[in-house]
Amino acid sequence: MSNIDELTRYGIVHLVPILQADSMEYMEKLFETLHPKTFLEIGTAIARTSIACATILDDVKIVTIEKNPEMASVARQNILNSGFADRITLIEGDAREVEVPDWKYDMIFIDAAKGQYQRFFERYSPMLNEGGLIVSDNMFFHGLVEHPERTNNRHTKGLIKRVQRYRDFLDQHPDYETTILEVGDGLALTRRKDDSHV
Ligand SMILES: C[S@@+](CC[C@H](N)C(=O)[O-])C[C@H]1O[C@@H](n2cnc3c(N)ncnc32)[C@H](O)[C@@H]1O
Repeated sequence: MSNIDELTRYGIVHLVPILQADSMEYMEKLFETLHPKTFLEIGTAIARTSIACATILDDVKIVTIEKNPEMASVARQNILNSGFADRITLIEGDAREVEVPDWKYDMIFIDAAKGQYQRFFERYSPMLNEGGLIVSDNMFFHGLVEHPERTNNRHTKGLIKRVQRYRDFLDQHPDYETTILEVGDGLALTRRKDDSHV
């Protein structure tokens, strides 16, 4: 598999948690308008978003991190098939601890374990380039942040709290400003405050 439609079909059939259609469309618009030269993705899944980014931007360099070995193996094959292996580096491991290229990233996309977003943010936000953007997915957590009463599952309730805490963390962060968009499962767009002149 290499083209985006094939990857989308594979994701749906195999129940891979790929980005929702309207979020994907929004990300593609961001790639086109912001034209990042470096893109870091936390949570690769089958590499659909990274391959979409490399398809749109022929000079982007991408690092994408995936913890699940089976998923990483599918992603690796997809990246090879796409012909973008020279521009997409897949790192297999836990994004909380793996080594990543010590670059400045124009765009960082946080889309992995929902309970860990604040740790990902704290670890990777110092690598954000001036004028760069951090995008975090799942800020609505399937409507459960707004309506936590819809579940009785203790684990899910714990995750809802952590997503809400991450949203509060972003909202109250002295150095960053965040807007949450009603796109897909909720996309948070975060920029450094002192970048407002960029
Ligand atoms: C929602 S999917 C990613 C979707 C992908 N970003 C896309 O746009 O299609 C989340 C992925 O994050 C991976 N993941 C979860 N925790 C992680 C961690 N600590 N480090 C790296 N990857 C992680 C999961 O295995 C899963 O494949």
